[in-house]
Amino acid sequence: MNSSNLTKNPLPNHIAMIMDGNGRWAKERGLARTAGHKEGAETVRKITIHCTKIGIKYLTLYAFSTENWSRPKLEVEYLMKLLDGYLKQELDFFLKNNVRLKVIGDTSKFSKKLQETIKNTIEKTSGCSGLTQVLALNYGSKDEIIRAIKKLNEQNLEVTEENLESCLDTKDIPAVDILIRTSGEVRLSNFLLWQVAYAEMFFTQTYWPDFNEMELDDIISDYVNRERRFGGV
Ligand code: IPE
Ligand code: IPE
Ligand code: MG
Repeated sequence: MNSSNLTKNPLPNHIAMIMDGNGRWAKERGLARTAGHKEGAETVRKITIHCTKIGIKYLTLYAFSTENWSRPKLEVEYLMKLLDGYLKQELDFFLKNNVRLKVIGDTSKFSKKLQETIKNTIEKTSGCSGLTQVLALNYGSKDEIIRAIKKLNEQNLEVTEENLESCLDTKDIPAVDILIRTSGEVRLSNFLLWQVAYAEMFFTQTYWPDFNEMELDDIISDYVNRERRFGGV
């Protein structure tokens, strides 16, 4: 899995994941959907540790979409609590492992308490220079692009690719090299529509709670051997 001279691409700089299938994972076990989300949080830790070990610089995780508010109230509440707990619990881990947290999405819709937890984790980890874990929270690509266009207008900036990118939530974050979606669904569900313009895409049947380091390594091995042409020949 090393980026030796034999491979076509160096190791990916930025991996983005649509973490899907928590509910089905739980259902198959006769458990409540929330049990799947809890298990999914464990996978987040496992995959984050692995990415720090193999030297990935950016790991973006789709944790809550602008459309996920339409789920049952109890499930939404559970996800909010899980997120708050996750961030508080992971702070030590982030600091020990030199992981910086960034967030994309409109977090102004979250409770004040959760917004505080997010802000605190971002601030405390801002000096970390290893992996950047980017959590997509109340994230929707269409919402992000609309907010970016509004910023362009407010700042009277000319509409160019560069200026628009500088107004996206992902400003300062490099383009996505690999996009992975778990659970067998083959769609983007409003995730990083702009940023995956030239990403290599991988779709696996595995439910997110069952996704593991080995499967990620296999995807990366496949990626380094793909030919990325970017429109050239
Ligand atoms: C993904 O798992 C997690 C979130 C969207 C928060 P799902 O909850 O969508 O699981 P399925 O797709 O119903 O199995
Ligand atoms: C996408 O999964 C959102 C996250 C993983 C956070 P969904 O389960 O919400 O997407 P759809 O509804 O199947 O497209
Ligand atoms: Mg789903």
